[in-house]
Amino acid sequence: MSLIDPHGRHIEYVRLSVTDRCDLRCRYCMPEGFRDFDTPEDWLTFDELERVIGAFGRLGTRRIRLTGGEPLVRRDLPALAARLAALPGIEDLSLSTNATRLAREAAALRAAGVRRLNVSLDTLRPERFREITRGKLDKVLDGLMAAKAEGFAPIKINMVVMAGVNDDEVEDMVGFCLEHGFTLRFIETMPMGETGQSASRRYISLQTIKRRLAERYELLPGTMPGGGPARYVQVAGTDLRIGFITPLSQHFCETCNRVRLSADGTLYLCLGQDDQYPLRPLLRAGISDTELEDHLRAAIARKPERHEFREKPGQVVRFMSMTGG
Ligand code: GTP
Ligand code: 5AD
Ligand code: SF4
Repeated sequence: MSLIDPHGRHIEYVRLSVTDRCDLRCRYCMPEGFRDFDTPEDWLTFDELERVIGAFGRLGTRRIRLTGGEPLVRRDLPALAARLAALPGIEDLSLSTNATRLAREAAALRAAGVRRLNVSLDTLRPERFREITRGKLDKVLDGLMAAKAEGFAPIKINMVVMAGVNDDEVEDMVGFCLEHGFTLRFIETMPMGETGQSASRRYISLQTIKRRLAERYELLPGTMPGGGPARYVQVAGTDLRIGFITPLSQHFCETCNRVRLSADGTLYLCLGQDDQYPLRPLLRAGISDTELEDHLRAAIARKPERHEFREKPGQVVRFMSMTGG
């Protein structure tokens, strides 16, 4: 059983945003004073989430990634994780987090069955961290160290590289990841919402960064567990893998395998398009499991071919925090 979209792609990865709230305000993501969040009555409950992911699992979904906003802002996330990890078909349960709350949740998440962690970290300098995220770096580093001590593997560091903001830290970040055994991924800034569009003035192509690294290190072809769009190299003589996520300079839509479910139960069929399929009203109207599966198939039939971040950079008005990237 598998979900195949109109462009022949097998959809087997669901990015599940469990809340649109976040305790940081990264400049490329959410505006500083933003408060217009979903109301809790509109969040899918854990029972509803288990039901939807159960249906995806029956239709061939193997991977679930918990995202936000910041997923650890949602109370009892480990309890939800345990329920999702137990569903038939789900082989890979992972989490993308800003790590501010990871120190206190790492053990429970691991016990719940989360294995892979991706952590946002754009800088190792406290002042700069505050400037980019309006938050505190030490909490994130504590979270990362707790996750490492708990044995999460792999731990991937997500660095959105911005010209004149943090592009001078690429080599420092390589050193940090080498020291701790983390995988490093560089990400191109995407024009999601007004914030992403204004941050895109700082856009830098990762092809430039890759050339710069190649002058200093020998880069061999590499691979990593995961189902996302990063392309990896390995630094010769080390275990370090570096991933490049290049939606603008080299897009990867032809291999897209994913859809996104927002906290209010809307399926977003592409990160860079507005196509959506609301599930909450259907769930609350009491549809059967078979009807739910039919709706998931109908939604996948609407999946767009690709994003148009280059052609229409002003097109997506929602912030990245609504669908968690
Ligand atoms: P794994 O490969 O499974 O570890 O996960 P991932 O890299 O897909 O997930 P993560 O949440 O760490 O996302 C890293 C970056 O990739 C974020 O900036 C996402 O917005 C971006 N990304 C993930 N999936 C897509 C996609 O389908 N399209 C685009 N344009 N960007 C994506
Ligand atoms: N462009 C690229 N990446 C972004 N993220 C958030 N907003 C943007 C953007 N506009 C990243 C975060 C996090 C990941 C899930 O998405 O840094 O690591
Ligand atoms: Fe929060 Fe992640 Fe957005 Fe930063 S990028 S404001 S950590 S949701």
